[in-house]
Amino acid sequence: MIELRNVTLKYGEKLVLDKVSLAVQDNTIKAVLGPSGVGKSTILKLMLGLIKPNSGQVFVDGLDITSMKEADLYPIRRKMGIVFQGNALFDSMTISQNLSFFLRENLRLPEDEIGRRVAEQIRFAGLEGYEDQLPESLSGGMRKRVAIGRALIFNPKMILFDEPTAGLDPVSSKKILNLIASLKKSNDLGAAFVTHIIDDVFAIADHVAVLYQGKIIFDGETEKLHESDHPFIRSILSDKILEL
Ligand SMILES: Nc1ncnc2c1ncn2[C@@H]1O[C@H](COP(=O)(O)OP(=O)(O)OP(=O)(O)O)[C@@H](O)[C@H]1O
Ligand SMILES: [Mg+2]
Repeated sequence: MIELRNVTLKYGEKLVLDKVSLAVQDNTIKAVLGPSGVGKSTILKLMLGLIKPNSGQVFVDGLDITSMKEADLYPIRRKMGIVFQGNALFDSMTISQNLSFFLRENLRLPEDEIGRRVAEQIRFAGLEGYEDQLPESLSGGMRKRVAIGRALIFNPKMILFDEPTAGLDPVSSKKILNLIASLKKSNDLGAAFVTHIIDDVFAIADHVAVLYQGKIIFDGETEKLHESDHPFIRSILSDKILEL
């Protein structure tokens, strides 16, 4: 459903992605694993059309979005929910208001439909009783669940996560990973997440691409990662480095 084809991306003179090709299929969980600063968040921005590649193409549902105008990108972005690393919640709004904001502002849905969708996400994210609280009064894991609920509220076909478990304690991490895995089963949704935590990949990803020094050095089924003979992958597997 989302594909980067031969994408090269530079910030100024700095080459970050060097002819990267990568696809995320419907109804699968794909991870992009790589060390800090390798270009993981950059890949998500390219998928959303927030930045343009220097060369190569980006496709969403078969449509080439590489040179699309901002106005044409809105309906495309609505097919993809995004959960940012820092959640990007509105601090001064309650949990309900955070969830309803874009429905009201962007879709201008009737209030009863907004209420129905907010209640659905509150239930799914296990946030009953917290509707009128501010984000600051919630734990990190709960704030992450609000961000996931907000990403799901447009009924996307695909949800993208930037480091979904970064900064969370092990129990909260596991809950978030279970929630991501359950999206595929119960909502028929595809998910892509970028991470530097190998355990998260083995926990839930069907497919993984490994990004290292600007290039994809592995792309395939997660269990096949063990068969790779690339020195970087061998070292992360044999040294049992859990976080790159
Ligand atoms: N707007 C920008 N201008 C210049 N350089 C940038 C910009 N955004 C990112 N970079 C640089 O490009 C490289 C890739 O950045 P990116 O944020 O995609 O990496 P990342 O893999 O998500 O890193 P992290 O693990 O820290 O989240 C980094 O070296 C970063 O410093
Ligand atoms: Mg990042």
